[in-house]
Amino acid sequence: MLFKQQALLRQKLFVLGSLAIGSVLYLVARVGTLDRLQPICPVDSRLPTPEPEQIPLRTLQFKRGLLHEIRKGNATKEQIRLHNLVQQLPQAIIIGVRKGGTRALLEMLNLHPAVVKASQEIHFFDNDQNYARGIDWYRGKMPFSFPHQITIEKSPAYFITEEVPERIFKMNSSIKLLIIVREPTTRAVSDYTQVLEGKERKNKTYHKFEKLVIDTNTCEVNTKYKAVRTSIYTKHLERWLKYFPVEQFHIVDGDRLITDPLPELQLVERFLNLPSRISQYNLYFNATRGFYCLRFNIVFNKCLAGSKGRTHPEVDPSVVTKLQKFFHPFNQKFYQITGRTFNWP
Ligand code: A3P
Repeated sequence: MLFKQQALLRQKLFVLGSLAIGSVLYLVARVGTLDRLQPICPVDSRLPTPEPEQIPLRTLQFKRGLLHEIRKGNATKEQIRLHNLVQQLPQAIIIGVRKGGTRALLEMLNLHPAVVKASQEIHFFDNDQNYARGIDWYRGKMPFSFPHQITIEKSPAYFITEEVPERIFKMNSSIKLLIIVREPTTRAVSDYTQVLEGKERKNKTYHKFEKLVIDTNTCEVNTKYKAVRTSIYTKHLERWLKYFPVEQFHIVDGDRLITDPLPELQLVERFLNLPSRISQYNLYFNATRGFYCLRFNIVFNKCLAGSKGRTHPEVDPSVVTKLQKFFHPFNQKFYQITGRTFNWP
């Protein structure tokens, strides 16, 4: 009798325990979902709200599960077939600008459940050897996705490489093109800092920024220096406009992506005709890094690698002023063409 009562008590305790654990797990899952789906205010009331594309709920739910496994190489061919997974050519490309914040933009867009990213820079259109491998090689570099998801890749060299606009046009003349820019002088210093770090790693000496950026014969800005040329955004954009109408480009403010990323991401969601899904929950400021980091869900978050967000060397203020004056007319033209104005000096 006593044994029977004890067994009954144990059974009751087990049922109660299971219920409690189940409720906690349900709440944890629910909090994550609710936070991710909370509505956000429109960032610019002048912009019409696009019709959200119909993304099947299944797609949204699976994104972090199965696709994550596939990326890790854990999904079987059977699962790929069963779930209709495909390797799609990108429907949008981040074409530049180098040091504009291209990695941050790609990673932040990847927070969206309907976006999948090609993790590596593929350099298909700017590298002749890769380009000669053909479009199927390029497709093979793309991640698996559900048919309703969009694939995005980023290769910042595309923006400044002569052959690229025509090559991309031949692949898809209606592709969406994202360009992330920063104040041109800051971008040039960032570009220099990256090269400098590479040299230092190889124990090589390198010139000071001031020496590279100013032509010592003329005392004018050295337009042969690549870091200067890359920052003349309008010159590069004009080449692209021979192939694509301006409506196919979206300009992202790379300086604002650093200080306040959400509004910039919401503009990109609109441009890509995606329902607004990235929320403040997905972005948190990490004081140690000094940058926003990414929160995918209650358990998974990450910051960008340490190579993003280097300390820049101090630059002679008179050289900074000279550069800013040099870029000014090009910037004006860039604003005029793109319809996006920045408070650059
Ligand atoms: P700095 O290293 O000069 O600070 P790219 O990915 O195109 O190479 O751009 C690198 C730049 O992205 C960095 O330049 C950094 O300022 C910027 N950036 C923007 N958002 C960032 C973030 N959340 N974390 C780290 N870097 C970020």
